[in-house]
Amino acid sequence: MKLVTETQAFFNKEYQDREDGPFLKSLQTAFISQMLKKYSGALPDHIHYADDCFVAYRNLGFLSDENFARACSQSGFDHVLYSRIWRVWVVTCSMLSAWKNSGVIADFGTYNGKVLSAAISYCTALLGPRAAEIYAYDLFENPPTEAKKVEHGPKLFEEVCSRLSPLGDICVVKGELPNSIKQSSSDKIAWAQIDLNSAHADLETFRTIYPLLIKGAVVIFDDYGFVRYSETQRSLDHFLAVDNRRVMELPTGQGMYIHA
Ligand SMILES: C[S@@+](CC[C@H](N)C(=O)[O-])C[C@H]1O[C@@H](n2cnc3c(N)ncnc32)[C@H](O)[C@@H]1O
Repeated sequence: MKLVTETQAFFNKEYQDREDGPFLKSLQTAFISQMLKKYSGALPDHIHYADDCFVAYRNLGFLSDENFARACSQSGFDHVLYSRIWRVWVVTCSMLSAWKNSGVIADFGTYNGKVLSAAISYCTALLGPRAAEIYAYDLFENPPTEAKKVEHGPKLFEEVCSRLSPLGDICVVKGELPNSIKQSSSDKIAWAQIDLNSAHADLETFRTIYPLLIKGAVVIFDDYGFVRYSETQRSLDHFLAVDNRRVMELPTGQGMYIHA
């Protein structure tokens, strides 16, 4: 059974903020309505129309991975998270590749912790509990306007601690990045995600962890491919150019960096 039955969610803020946003939104709404008519209300398994992507004639094996489906549902996914499920899979599958490596796993910009919870649950189900520590960083309350979401507030830190603590040795760190890293850990890093909705915070966080990355470490940049964060891409590219290294831009809007 397909994990995602929803169709496109227009979560990209550009649909509201750009002059052509309403045009693109109405075009896609008409497009999906024609498709649903053709396929009697349920898109075939080879079509994925979410994650700001439309693809056809694809295998999409992760959408029928029962462990992944279970991890998402047990982590309390709502339709917004299901509508960016390919991004969640990139986080989850890349974390799996680092699960048995030495070095910590670190999520910079954890928000409510549901995506992190799904990824950890999936990796644990497949490979067992992790030996090295996992870190989850965020402000949790009073974020900058660009990063603000509905669950931010004085209770979010405690809620994230409760959500993540049953999943293993997870250290939830409240504070402003990148300074909160220096205060909490200088461990080597095997996997990281940086998702702060700010070119400055994304770059400064990456600059701080760069010397800590082990060989083969993976860093997922959630904002890297989105037009809204083109400054994030420019500044990360500029930083890595010194070492002739590159971030791989993915169709989901993420960037994946492998520290070879
Ligand atoms: C887009 S949200 C992250 C979403 C999350 N990765 C997920 O999958 O649901 C961005 C987060 O970055 C946090 N944030 C932004 N700037 C920050 C900073 N300088 N230090 C710590 N957290 C920050 C915000 O509080 C917000 O929760």
